[in-house]
Amino acid sequence: MSIIRIGQSGPLKGEVEVSGSKNAVLPLLAATLLTEEACEITDVPDLKDVDVMCRLLRSFGAVVEEDKGGKSIKVRAKTLTSNEAPCGLVKKMRASVLAMGPLLARTGRAKVSLPGGCAIGKRPIDLHLKGFRALGADIVSMEDEENYGYVEAVTSELKGVEIYLDTRSVGATENIIMAAALSRGVTLIENAAQEPEIVDLANFLNKMGAKIKGAGTDVVKIEGVERLHGANHTVIPDRIEAATFLLAAAVTKGDITVTNMLSDHVKPVIAKLRECGVTVEDGANETRVYASGDRMLTATDIKTLPYPGFPTDVQPQFMAFLATASGSGVIRETVFENRFGHVPELNKMNAGVTLAREGREAIVPGGRILRGAKVRATDLRAGAALILAGLAAEAETEISDVYHIDRGYSNIIEKFSSLGADIKRLPHTAK
Ligand code: UD1
Repeated sequence: MSIIRIGQSGPLKGEVEVSGSKNAVLPLLAATLLTEEACEITDVPDLKDVDVMCRLLRSFGAVVEEDKGGKSIKVRAKTLTSNEAPCGLVKKMRASVLAMGPLLARTGRAKVSLPGGCAIGKRPIDLHLKGFRALGADIVSMEDEENYGYVEAVTSELKGVEIYLDTRSVGATENIIMAAALSRGVTLIENAAQEPEIVDLANFLNKMGAKIKGAGTDVVKIEGVERLHGANHTVIPDRIEAATFLLAAAVTKGDITVTNMLSDHVKPVIAKLRECGVTVEDGANETRVYASGDRMLTATDIKTLPYPGFPTDVQPQFMAFLATASGSGVIRETVFENRFGHVPELNKMNAGVTLAREGREAIVPGGRILRGAKVRATDLRAGAALILAGLAAEAETEISDVYHIDRGYSNIIEKFSSLGADIKRLPHTAK
């Protein structure tokens, strides 16, 4: 397994293009299972999670053609030969559970093992199952002799219904939308999540002939249709990757122009950076972010929330920046109960972060001279935070377990190198 080595870098300067969104493309690919006709998705990021989703689609009998150079994927799920997600794939990626809604709607049955992904909290799927049950599916949960959990949903017909989500879950909203798209009657999802990735999914499904209204608000209305047809769709830009580059400019006091970024999707991060003294200039097609070397950047507090609040997926990267800003900042994580795995790793680099309120809050003292260290990417965004810290730190930083980073960042080494960062991927040698 490789490691990433980073030397103190900066100020980072230049232009960088954001790739298609990981969290949008995964449900889009799952949605292709809803039709027997061909679909083509473009601006697909080159990511390990996308590879896993393609393998998953193939395991159900879909024909998947990947054109990595052209960043497009064609899927034709003419005949589905299986509706059981192989345990090995589900364990690799939590978003595998998004195949459940389409499989249930198309074949009347879906069986998946309980999902894997980043270890950032309990991450149950009870709301996905609540939705399927309300639509008329029987749910059976079981454990095999190795204690792996499985869930199976079976139905003779899905019927439209009103569903209230106890928590604004992105995945549950997407899964229920996909199942309801082929049900009989009208489904209303109340307290739905409002993330831009849900809007992208609804736009794709509507191109396929679905009748979905209200995506992006907290009430989504889905009028079921009998069949969906093939469609082409371009994935929206990745707002989390975009935010990571904005923070790279802040942490290195650089001057970066980010292209293919929808700044409306990154509003809370931009607002918080401005509060700290970073300049963000929003153009029609690009966003320039800079902080000159002699300007003091000051700390702020953040609280993660479902969209349009501050994204939990940018919390670790923001912490890396706060460690270097002047003054102390408090980060309150409200979306996941265990999303501070990066704290001990950042502390190896002298960040001095302490946890309070039963691990729900992190106090970042700020104003620290970060020092390079051997650290581990405990999850995807934690890995991105360690890269940012490594850019600012004196001496070299070595990050292991970088497979987490490869799950969600396309060409990360090339992109940071092009901005002048001293960053390399190396084969892992003995510790
Ligand atoms: C998605 C994103 C992930 C992001 C997260 C929150 C994808 C592929 N992943 O994950 O990057 O961090 O949104 O913005 O899009 N919950 C339940 N029961 C459920 C489902 C969720 O209690 O059935 C809880 C979770 O434990 C969590 C909260 O709801 O505390 C939000 O999770 P959710 O929005 O479902 O996250 P994902 O869709 O898994």
